[in-house]
Amino acid sequence: MIIGVPKEVKDHETRVGITPAGVKALVEAGHKVLVEHKAGELSALPDDEYQNAGAEIVGSAHDTWGLADMVVKVKEPVEKEYQHFRDGLVLFTYLHLAPLNDLTEKLLAKKVTGIAYETVRDRAGTLPLLTPMSEVAGRMSVQVGAAYLETEKGGRGVLLGGVPGVPPANVLIIGGGIVGTNAAKVALGMGAKVTLIDLNLNRLRELDDIFGSSLHTLASNSYNIARAAQEADLLIGGVLIPGAAAPKLVTKEMVAKMKKGAVIVDVAIDQGGCIETAKPTTHSNPSYEVYGVVHYCVTNMPAAVPHTSTLALTNATFPYVLKLAKLGAEAAIKDDKGIAEGVNTFNGTLTYAAVAQSQKKPWKPIAELV
Ligand SMILES: NC(=O)c1ccc[n+]([C@@H]2O[C@H](COP(=O)([O-])OP(=O)(O)OC[C@H]3O[C@@H](n4cnc5c(N)ncnc54)[C@H](O)[C@@H]3O)[C@@H](O)[C@H]2O)c1
Repeated sequence: MIIGVPKEVKDHETRVGITPAGVKALVEAGHKVLVEHKAGELSALPDDEYQNAGAEIVGSAHDTWGLADMVVKVKEPVEKEYQHFRDGLVLFTYLHLAPLNDLTEKLLAKKVTGIAYETVRDRAGTLPLLTPMSEVAGRMSVQVGAAYLETEKGGRGVLLGGVPGVPPANVLIIGGGIVGTNAAKVALGMGAKVTLIDLNLNRLRELDDIFGSSLHTLASNSYNIARAAQEADLLIGGVLIPGAAAPKLVTKEMVAKMKKGAVIVDVAIDQGGCIETAKPTTHSNPSYEVYGVVHYCVTNMPAAVPHTSTLALTNATFPYVLKLAKLGAEAAIKDDKGIAEGVNTFNGTLTYAAVAQSQKKPWKPIAELV
């Protein structure tokens, strides 16, 4: 199979769909990989590393897409990429189609097989291609929060771990899933006093088993959240209700009662945020202040650490890339239920129920089409 890896063109997107290690494995398996010139540059993966791994460097996006049987990328295509769609092309990437009517229509009109990272499932029923980015964002949330606690950045001038004779900062994490657990690991590692709130008591039991008495856990209710928020130097939002907007668990009244110079990192902002005063920000203008509390609400945090994020993402996506290349898309879809769940568009038909519902379009299960 010929696999194309275009350079990402979405604003501030710094990751790339396949690494040189992936290229090597694909080439060894008998496939041809076309990598667009400078596709890996922002992830610190230069053209010559791809070339040494066996890729062919291609000068334009037009040829990378045009000559490939399957295109592997990171973000959903933006408008200027729609021109590359054509009958029979397999596209493996994050698609996030639900709110993107235009992109959906174009994929259907051009009969592209669109396989979305965010809907691929593993045997346990989890979403393995979303997990690595939550791991990155969870760990980063503490790193970013610690930096914003410095006075220069508007924070209250507190060192996360304290020093002998001076207490550490209080870190409050709301949501104990992938983001929350990774945030807890880093915050505890830096010596902070960490409290984690979740609605799911079984999850709190698991976290208690993992972290022992170093992590303070609390059941999620507005009383506990209000009290813990007042104490917090750094508050991290990592709540998710799959498929729904995040609940506003920290109200503006609670934010108003937080310490001046405290910091909020609302990681859940990509689902609307779980803090009432949170609004989406970008890497070029990441923070703002409300009631004297610094807010950092960047919707694509992993893009700030593209080298790590690209490696983490491609570690998870690569086995699927290899299987799609080996069997061809149709046979891989038949063979692997998880890949079948990833198919959102196939031969002009919408195949994902949630996207169809949000766009009020007809759909068919992929099992009826292959
Ligand atoms: N901003 C970014 O760059 C970025 C990057 C990665 C992930 N995210 C987002 O971070 C959020 C969390 O992702 P995740 O992978 O950790 O999800 P997850 O499903 O692993 O964890 C979510 C947790 O929230 C808990 N929860 C649900 N309702 C709650 C409530 N009312 N009170 C307390 N806890 C509650 C759940 O029990 C679960 O443990 C998602 O919105 C995800 O899209 C953002």
